Amino acid sequence: MPVLELDDVHRTHGTGDTAVHALQGVTLTIEPGELVAVMGPSGSGKSTLLNLAGALDRPTTGRVVIEGQEVTALRPDALARLRRRSVGFVFQDFNLISSLTAAENVALPLELDGARPRAARRQAHAALEEVGIRDLADRFPDQRSGGQQQR
Ligand SMILES: Nc1ncnc2c1ncn2[C@@H]1O[C@H](COP(=O)(O)OP(=O)(O)OP(=O)(O)O)[C@@H](O)[C@H]1O
Ligand SMILES: [Mg+2]
Repeated sequence: MPVLELDDVHRTHGTGDTAVHALQGVTLTIEPGELVAVMGPSGSGKSTLLNLAGALDRPTTGRVVIEGQEVTALRPDALARLRRRSVGFVFQDFNLISSLTAAENVALPLELDGARPRAARRQAHAALEEVGIRDLADRFPDQRSGGQQQR
């Protein structure tokens, strides 16, 4: 089963005279283990595409299927579960919570998903270790460099 399928996806931002047709008929299939890079000039629709691929946005028309589940058919709770358990997403502008440390930012979605705080903290530290910033676990976002925040 593909991890991601887009079928004739269109996404229009806004309406009327100012409408922007950011995606016009995108079809693609990504299989498990595939590494795919999306390239294009600024404003060409990369973030629009990734927001759909991460179930953060819905297509204007067309189908987005993640691990066999059609995103538009999911109820809000099922959609939130899919995002928490199946999608990893590095935002262009990070979206870190400024009042939480690095470890707390990483642990938060695990706790929201039902993990016990201590287990979530352990997993968060292991994840920070994996990307080489375990020693920055207790720093807040504004005490880390851009690349350190992104990791
Ligand atoms: N919320 C919005 N309302 C109106 N237009 C939007 C909105 N978001 C994006 N757009 C427009 O949709 C098009 C695609 O934007 P998108 O953010 O997907 O581009 P991008 O490829 O990620 O660009 P960049 O490389 O600069 O991040 C652009 O023309 C942009 O101006
Ligand atoms: Mg972008």
